[in-house]
Amino acid sequence: MKPNKNYSSLKESYLFSEIAHRVADFSKANPDAEIIKMGIGDVTRPLCEAVVDAMKKSSEDMGQAAAFHGYGPEQGYDFLREKIQSYYKSFDVTLDLGEIFISDGAKSDLGNILDLFDKDNTVLIPDPVYPVYVDTNLMDGRKIVFADANEENGFLPMPQDDVAADIIYLCSPNNPTGAAYNKDQLKVWVDYALKNKAVILFDAAYESFIIDPSLPRSIFAIDGADKCAIEFCSLSKTAGFTGTRCGYTIVPKNLMAEDMSLNKMWLRRQTTKFNGVSYVVQRGAEAVFTESGLKQTRENIAYYRENANIITKALDELGWYYTGGKNSPYIWLRCPDGMDSWAFFDKLLTEIGVVGTPGAGFGKNGQNFFRLTAFSTHENTEKAMAKLKKLFS
Ligand code: MLT
Repeated sequence: MKPNKNYSSLKESYLFSEIAHRVADFSKANPDAEIIKMGIGDVTRPLCEAVVDAMKKSSEDMGQAAAFHGYGPEQGYDFLREKIQSYYKSFDVTLDLGEIFISDGAKSDLGNILDLFDKDNTVLIPDPVYPVYVDTNLMDGRKIVFADANEENGFLPMPQDDVAADIIYLCSPNNPTGAAYNKDQLKVWVDYALKNKAVILFDAAYESFIIDPSLPRSIFAIDGADKCAIEFCSLSKTAGFTGTRCGYTIVPKNLMAEDMSLNKMWLRRQTTKFNGVSYVVQRGAEAVFTESGLKQTRENIAYYRENANIITKALDELGWYYTGGKNSPYIWLRCPDGMDSWAFFDKLLTEIGVVGTPGAGFGKNGQNFFRLTAFSTHENTEKAMAKLKKLFS
């Protein structure tokens, strides 16, 4: 038996596992210390009533012979895919039902999609970035080139004509920086991908946090994207599904790689390796897109947005540079006094019990940056910011 040696080029543990271990070690040594978690982007608001009601009812169905559901349709139930189709229509994006694939979340599909691509492709990934894009390509041994995201370009790197790439990752609004591309900027990326016969893997997991109506919520709002992009989205942050698990991936029928249809390849891949998301969860997901579901989930997003305001207000008072927090639940701040991000992490954990995410975990350009999430409670967000201001003023 020979192992996949590419795993030896990975860091010892996944970023958020490393953080969880450090916090657990600290809590063990200091059992009375209060810890406020603003690290991993995990939500705190419960599922909304519309979702809970739909899941209760569908659970009852599963206990009755007449309403019981076994294996579901391969791409997900039409009742959910039709709702997603109408949701996209609400921001002027037209999708064919056959382009929508229901999944258990964006992270798995972002990793699994790589089954469709040769290991010989060159991958272009912004830095800093959600570590899943880098790690999944390292596991396959693909060559990675990085696009620097930094203060000079507002953490929104643009393509460079002298860099050739086959697979391009974009996330907007961005994890970790919270920066969001406008339509003109995304059009430049789409044109670059079309010219290079590359594919854009577009992570739209944070689209529901966009409040600026001029910002695109989908790459498919851009002309030509249906010939060069795949979009991943999730209900984790939109509707609090981090523990419930449901997302969707859009693979356009117009998207070809040489003479192969990526839509057909993805269907073939999914029908072979995935048996779908449970009926109960898909019913819950359907409820997210009903009138009451959309209203209730938007209330939760407004709650997190208020947290983002609390955080950015504190950072303004401290006079620290940051991005994000407007169209995104993430706030990306420059560590004070040129501090290294892991040193800043340890300082906040040990001196005020606040957990964030060190920017270095997202790439070299995050070395002196730090990410805070707006997903905590109001009470804890207020408390954490009061402690931060006290520590540094
Ligand atoms: C994050 O904190 O970056 C996200 O919660 C991770 C994820 O969505 O998998």
